[in-house]
Amino acid sequence: MKIDILTLFPNMFNDIFNESIIKRAIDNKLVEINIHNFRDYTLDPHNKVDDTPYGGGSGMVLMPQPIFDCVDKIKTADSKVILLTPDGVKYEQSLAYDLSHEKHLIFICGHYEGFDERIRTICDMELSIGDYVLTGGELASMVITDSIVRLLPGVIEESSHINDSFNNNLLDYPSYTKPRVFRGMEVPEVLLSGNHKKIEEYRKNESLKRTQERRPDLLEK
Ligand code: ADE
Repeated sequence: MKIDILTLFPNMFNDIFNESIIKRAIDNKLVEINIHNFRDYTLDPHNKVDDTPYGGGSGMVLMPQPIFDCVDKIKTADSKVILLTPDGVKYEQSLAYDLSHEKHLIFICGHYEGFDERIRTICDMELSIGDYVLTGGELASMVITDSIVRLLPGVIEESSHINDSFNNNLLDYPSYTKPRVFRGMEVPEVLLSGNHKKIEEYRKNESLKRTQERRPDLLEK
């Protein structure tokens, strides 16, 4: 998979994909991630990428030209262009699975007070990572990229994400490791029993109980 991220703040991405699982996925050529500064595409003599809104009002609005030209340059027939915006569709795990099957994703990070409405016309999808407003789409693109890359074949063992929270609309079951007793807190006996059928049953029940307690809305889906 290839992921291209269009931003005015490329330095925000310096370290984020250079650690841990995502770095390994890049090193193993399971994903290619490119960061583009759309200021590099402006035709304005003063390198401007935004301007005041028509009709008045506060703040600056991102101009369409640099973003259109950048997308024109990197887009192919296999690309899916995604705009990060608080008024997009709310992102969730099922979308992470869907998008992990795409060949090429292009994320456009909106910034400042807004972007020219015509930018929406080149997007296949608009996504929001939650009902709150960030200073821009950069953090949202990082969150979405991370959640997709970990699902790509070969990045982590499939068995590690098959039991993830939100799969089958259930939260994850509790996990324990050594020591067996820590500050008086004991590991549930069943996990030490070696009885795989009972362990599976315990985990299923715990998963269901936790979802009922914390996220009953998931069970209604
Ligand atoms: N840009 C600003 N806020 C955002 C959000 N919640 N999701 C995606 N992009 C955003």
